[in-house]
Amino acid sequence: MNQTEIPCSARLLDVLATKVHQHLGLDFSGARRADLLKRLGQLAQEQEEEPRAWLESLAFGDWSDQQIQMLTPAFTVGETYFRRDAEALDWLARQHLAPLLQRRRAAGHRYLRIWSAACCTGEEAYSLLFLLDDLLGDERSQWTIDVLASDINAGFLARAEQGRYGQNAFRRSEELFRSRYFETRGRSWQVRPEWHGRIRFLRHNLASGELPDPKRGLASADLILCRHVLMYFSQGQAAAALHRLMACLGEDGILVLSAVEAALATHAGLQGFWAGTNYALRPGGQISGAVSPHAEPSPSAVVLPTAGGSRRPEEPATFSRHIETQQQPAPSPSRPDSSASNRYDDCLQMARRCADRQHDKDAHHWLQRARELDPSNPMSYWLQAQLAIQNGDALAALQSLHKALYLEPNLAMAHFQQGLLLREVGRHAAGDKALRVCLKLLGDTTATDMVPFGEGLSHGRLSQLCEQLLEDRP
Ligand SMILES: C[S@@+](CC[C@H](N)C(=O)[O-])C[C@H]1O[C@@H](n2cnc3c(N)ncnc32)[C@H](O)[C@@H]1O
Repeated sequence: MNQTEIPCSARLLDVLATKVHQHLGLDFSGARRADLLKRLGQLAQEQEEEPRAWLESLAFGDWSDQQIQMLTPAFTVGETYFRRDAEALDWLARQHLAPLLQRRRAAGHRYLRIWSAACCTGEEAYSLLFLLDDLLGDERSQWTIDVLASDINAGFLARAEQGRYGQNAFRRSEELFRSRYFETRGRSWQVRPEWHGRIRFLRHNLASGELPDPKRGLASADLILCRHVLMYFSQGQAAAALHRLMACLGEDGILVLSAVEAALATHAGLQGFWAGTNYALRPGGQISGAVSPHAEPSPSAVVLPTAGGSRRPEEPATFSRHIETQQQPAPSPSRPDSSASNRYDDCLQMARRCADRQHDKDAHHWLQRARELDPSNPMSYWLQAQLAIQNGDALAALQSLHKALYLEPNLAMAHFQQGLLLREVGRHAAGDKALRVCLKLLGDTTATDMVPFGEGLSHGRLSQLCEQLLEDRP
């Protein structure tokens, strides 16, 4: 069934998006509606009922837990692997777990509870277990270590429990890691018996449910990892989930989010700190005057990328340089009067972080969200072009520059880049033309002025570059 054939009116789709948001926390607003429609269309086809009737019953009926379980796989993303963000895990070992174990030892207490929330197929939870075993060494048997791992998707949990993984799960880990903790079973790898069965896997929906829940062990945690899931939630649902998780921390505990989710914490009125490449929150980290967890939170006052942002000389030439400002781009407290433009800039900030970590899919997701907030702002297209350049995709970069220039025809830097890229793909005459347009635009301003989006490049210097390039025509 192609998209146009899915028997779902815009109104019906709105109701279904609200239901998915309400029950799963996931945000399918704006441009993501089309994705929702596609997923629903696939689901509707698999049902015995007539698709339209099935979609209507879904939209207007109450959803039982069984129904939520049945629907979950269609809407959730199951991307994970061992030692994801290894640098962040090393930070946790060094800066959080080792000192905590030491304090517990000194106080004569030998217990620890860690929770991987939204654990998917368990790679994160096993990575944590291995990390802890390494830290404890010979002392391991003297400690009570409670490792919990939860997810909404029962299928993922069953696979996690089984502890058998394909090659993809090891894509960022070394051979030594795999052979130490796993043994081969045909074409896959099975967690060795010493570690198998030591994690308690349980089903938990982050978008609902009372927390803390001591009966299930969801309380007094020393460490909660909740990474790469709230980024798919609406800001309101993410804020509510964050506050519920915060209530599950013990006094020494921290809650760790991925870098791209830092701004969601700020939106929720929570002030954290950078934990390696991740973002962490401690109990009591509320920003004064914080937003209620149940209100749609206001956006943060993240330091925003500016067109003419200057680059510090020691910075690596990453995607981030294109929107870096003089200040560190750490989230800061929410402002009640923050506007859509702040949200737009937050999205760009998220895109930048994703791009710097080569999470291109996520970067595109945030750029798309930015565009939904302000379709007439050229910045998201400009950044998309930088991402494409970083990936060596000249044609995609040209397309994005074209869109940026449609929105802002006087963007000299975009003409300049267009010129370079057109030459790169062999279109020399068109490239020269773009460089001449750039020169013409630069001619109207003082030589020492900074070029917007030029990372500290002056008008004079850019003019010289254009002239040089035109002279050195290959
Ligand atoms: C991209 S994976 C992240 C896995 C792991 N945390 C990581 O960082 O590698 C996202 C996980 O979130 C789970 N998920 C999505 N919505 C959820 C919800 N409402 N409650 C609990 N888990 C959810 C999905 O089932 C999926 O396993």
